[in-house]
Amino acid sequence: MSNKIAPRRVRFSWEDTPLHWVPGDPFTTHLINTLHLLLPAGERWFVHVFRQALPHITDPLLREQVKGFMGQEGTHAVAHQRVLEHLREQGLDPAPYVENVEWLFERLLGDHTLPPAARRFWLLERVAIIAAIEHYTAVLGQWILDAGPLDEAGADAVMMDLLRWHGAEEVEHRSVAYDLFTHLDGSYARRVRTMAGTGPAMIYLIRNGGRFLLEHDPIVRGRIVPKWSHYLYRAGQGRVPTLRSLALAMPRYLRPGFHPSQEGDVRQALAYIAVSPAHREFESYRRAHG
Ligand SMILES: [Fe+2]
Ligand SMILES: [Fe+2]
Repeated sequence: MSNKIAPRRVRFSWEDTPLHWVPGDPFTTHLINTLHLLLPAGERWFVHVFRQALPHITDPLLREQVKGFMGQEGTHAVAHQRVLEHLREQGLDPAPYVENVEWLFERLLGDHTLPPAARRFWLLERVAIIAAIEHYTAVLGQWILDAGPLDEAGADAVMMDLLRWHGAEEVEHRSVAYDLFTHLDGSYARRVRTMAGTGPAMIYLIRNGGRFLLEHDPIVRGRIVPKWSHYLYRAGQGRVPTLRSLALAMPRYLRPGFHPSQEGDVRQALAYIAVSPAHREFESYRRAHG
């Protein structure tokens, strides 16, 4: 473990962000918007599970990293939640999909009434699921930091800043969930099992989320039915990650000598945060308003 993980305050102003924030490209807009549907409930769940793991951590350094991770994920959840409000103001009500996502994280993956041994199993299982998800959030975080074609397409600067600030912190804290998993358990069978379930579940949720948003978009009005060919076309333009890059990330995670520190570029991530308008805007807002 290296740098200290801690939440940063940010401030985003959404007034000028159009519904199709990748101009003329509702497919890419809504595929990426799916993150706003999934992350508030998902990241609140990370915090909820890790709070239960805290008493089991015997390494004080790791405990500090986990607390910092919880602070960052809690901040991410709030930032994405605001985008959901912005979507609603623009006539796209995300509630029906978000309710399903909340059911998944709060009920299906929530706390169940279990005997002590099963409670321990369920905690380890959920920590391992979070480590698997965090592998992909780090991969996607690095991808968005590098996604020049979205800037060239005229993507909204505030949305790009949200995605890059978040992506940069995902790269920064990429090892924490995995280190916690290793500290509490680290079973290879559990690593394989949870990744094998997590990968397909994420594809399913993102695909359905994108479809939901295109269907309920007041401008598109269901005229675009998303297909894999749309995805491949946009991936070819560099507006979404290639399927190859996403597929190859899975065997990397399952390699016996894997550690998340082998992934992503933390120096690049921290360099982005240093110039992130949302982070700087918060600082100047705080100076102006005390
Ligand atoms: Fe996050
Ligand atoms: Fe994360």
